[in-house]
Amino acid sequence: KEKKIAIAIDGPAAAGKSTVAKIVAKKLGYIYIDTGAMYRSLTYSVLHHHIDIQNKEEVVRHLHNLSIDINKEQQVFVNNENVTDAIRSEQVTNNVSIIASIADVRKEMVQRQQKLANKRAVVMDGRDIGTHVIPDAEIKVFLIASVSERAKRRHEENTQKGFPSNLHQIKNEIEKRDKMDSEREVSPLKKAEDAIEIDTTHLSIDQVAEKILDLAISN
Ligand code: CDP
Ligand code: CDP
Repeated sequence: KEKKIAIAIDGPAAAGKSTVAKIVAKKLGYIYIDTGAMYRSLTYSVLHHHIDIQNKEEVVRHLHNLSIDINKEQQVFVNNENVTDAIRSEQVTNNVSIIASIADVRKEMVQRQQKLANKRAVVMDGRDIGTHVIPDAEIKVFLIASVSERAKRRHEENTQKGFPSNLHQIKNEIEKRDKMDSEREVSPLKKAEDAIEIDTTHLSIDQVAEKILDLAISN
């Protein structure tokens, strides 16, 4: 396929965005950009440096001095420190939506993300990709699934990795984060008007990837 396009994948927590985005990117030979990892990286660094997360100015100043790099193997580096595992901790997960609600944090993150996406041939996933980061993306997908299915998926993922995991706790955390992400003032989690919604509750990973690849190929 000749024409390089941008594919924006948004949706609530654990809907399968990153798993499916990686498959689609690989099939098309595109790069995959995980914007959630960027917000998680800032959150990790803020907590690590004992910065008060309610102090917006301080958090924004911290971001301006922070390099966040993600390599082809999806390893994440904050000022050259490998934080790939650290950014998935419960502490980061429980604080990331607070950091992500700061308007000036989003402004800076969106600028960085737009630079990464400017050459097209990109699959980017997050919460505001189709609405704010790449509003002119050729393909926009909004992935959803029931909250119990999403909690079950995260729980199984943790269990497989040998991490301690509590299904009830995960469900609560996901609901809380979705609520904060949907209700924040600046670029909330929201389906773009021209996005195609896919309910993945009863779909396999490959079925979802196939649907998105079909959209890309027929574009
Ligand atoms: O993978 P998971 O659904 O757990 O979350 P993520 O994609 O890593 O995103 C973590 C958090 O970052 C979200 O809950 C949002 O608060 C924030 N985020 C955002 O605000 N905008 C984005 N484009 C991506 C993530
Ligand atoms: O990126 P996001 O938070 O939206 O979700 P993810 O981390 O890609 O997916 C969460 C888990 O759900 C992973 O372990 C996937 O393997 C699984 N999954 C699934 O079981 N069925 C799907 N249709 C999609 C994802």
